[in-house]
Amino acid sequence: MTMQRARPSLPSDDKRWKIVNATMRRTGYAEHALIEALHSVQDAFGFLDEDAMIFVADSLDLPLSKVFGVATFYHLFMLKPQGRHSCVVCTGTACYIQGAGALIEGLEQRFGVNPGETTEDGALSVMTARCVGACGLAPAVVIDRQVSGKLDSNALNAKLEQEIAQ
Ligand code: FES
Repeated sequence: MTMQRARPSLPSDDKRWKIVNATMRRTGYAEHALIEALHSVQDAFGFLDEDAMIFVADSLDLPLSKVFGVATFYHLFMLKPQGRHSCVVCTGTACYIQGAGALIEGLEQRFGVNPGETTEDGALSVMTARCVGACGLAPAVVIDRQVSGKLDSNALNAKLEQEIAQ
């Protein structure tokens, strides 16, 4: 006879937890589904906070340190609320060679944020990704889910200023 492990109750009655829970249930609460579970939290809430990580760890019967380790390892996971606008700078090989580092430096100088951070006024979050699938446009960036490419630092900053002003 197999014993069913008791699952933790949802952190609150926010309906989005049901979506996260359904994702984990669909994968049989399997350990290997951790990344999928974290993605579902981020899709639902926009970021992963401590409550979310505790809930995922308890649900999948994993140590919190493991969940925290995975969440901080992948730069696509945000541990803080996202800004109203987002800019993902691709740091994959093609984009790196074409100057992704200069874009990141330029963002830091203009907006005062490093990858994984949001400006204090909540206007902009900056992130990095390993390849956004647009290598021909290197250096590629994704601004509010729209891919742009071949921008230098000044052009990227100007484009973001325009987005923020709208
Ligand atoms: S390496 Fe940047 S889009 Fe592929």
